[in-house]
Amino acid sequence: MGQILSNLWSWICPKPRNEAPTSYDNQGNYQTFPHDVKQPQTHIINIPDHHFDPILGSGRNEIIESYDNNKLSDPSSSDIVVDLSSGYEDVKRKEKKKKAVIDDGDQVIEEVVVLEKKVTTRISHVSSVKKIGLYNSSQRILLVGEGDFSFSACLAVAFGTCAVNITATSLNSEDFLIKNYTKFITNKTELLTRGSTVIHDVDATKMAKHPILGCLLFDRIIFNFPHTGKFGRNDTDQRTHKNLVRGFMRNAKKMVKEDGEIHITSKSNGFFLEWDIPKIGSDQGLNLIKEVKFTRNKYPGYHTKYGFGGDKDFDCNPSKTYTFTLSLK
Ligand SMILES: C[S@@+](CC[C@H](N)C(=O)[O-])C[C@H]1O[C@@H](n2cnc3c(N)ncnc32)[C@H](O)[C@@H]1O
Repeated sequence: MGQILSNLWSWICPKPRNEAPTSYDNQGNYQTFPHDVKQPQTHIINIPDHHFDPILGSGRNEIIESYDNNKLSDPSSSDIVVDLSSGYEDVKRKEKKKKAVIDDGDQVIEEVVVLEKKVTTRISHVSSVKKIGLYNSSQRILLVGEGDFSFSACLAVAFGTCAVNITATSLNSEDFLIKNYTKFITNKTELLTRGSTVIHDVDATKMAKHPILGCLLFDRIIFNFPHTGKFGRNDTDQRTHKNLVRGFMRNAKKMVKEDGEIHITSKSNGFFLEWDIPKIGSDQGLNLIKEVKFTRNKYPGYHTKYGFGGDKDFDCNPSKTYTFTLSLK
């Protein structure tokens, strides 16, 4: 009966629309908010660790409280803006600070200063070109007919961390080189640890058809002291050396860049002069643009080796480096 009367009363005198909002607080206590203060709205935003690691630490929920009247209750509150398009490198932090409170009678105006700080991480690569003798680290260099690989290793050491442009090759197999040159393994390691490429069993007279090398172009192609291992002074033996130089040039001109250079260093006395390297070059349509005295001391660690192996160095004085190009520079 009481319930019926109560329902009848509320139908006759309905509850006013502007009754203060009510809710339970976080201890479970029932509370009523005054009319002029709006109930805080709490939004919980789960922010994945990796977006905020650089500035906030990890594993947290951001709780942002906002009031309808948009006034800042906490002057130290901050708003973090992460530009996800640039990931870690572009993070903006907006800090809102209460600068002054001006009492304007019934209105309180809070002036807010927004500070914006942009943190940018710049990664700059400083690259410098390293030089030794006639060569530098920016050139893509192919060496053929290496003995114990001491010449190519010397370039690699001089270029330091920029030796990736070197490709060093030998006619001989790795097994032969290990057995016949004490320093070969050390030299090969110097090359490989600096990112150079080493290839064995490369015939300089057929290299344009080599499965790896054949499709590459180089700024410099170098053959130091070409020699077939024939030591007779007769025409037959001499012809083998000349054929080696000719075959090397015929292949090298297909693998050198338009503005690149082919270098042959050879002894410049005795029967070596009979090979007439400049003539072999011109017969191949190459231009001899330079011939300069070769000085071994300019290449520390370089040991001139006989093709048959052994740790004895041959005397490379006097000798010259002939520089050929595809067209006149
Ligand atoms: C006098 S040694 C010079 C070795 C090395 N370039 C140096 O300066 O110490 C001659 C080299 O020419 C190489 N050679 C001979 N015929 C070759 C060919 N067809 N292709 C590549 N290299 C060859 C030999 O294997 C030998 O190592």
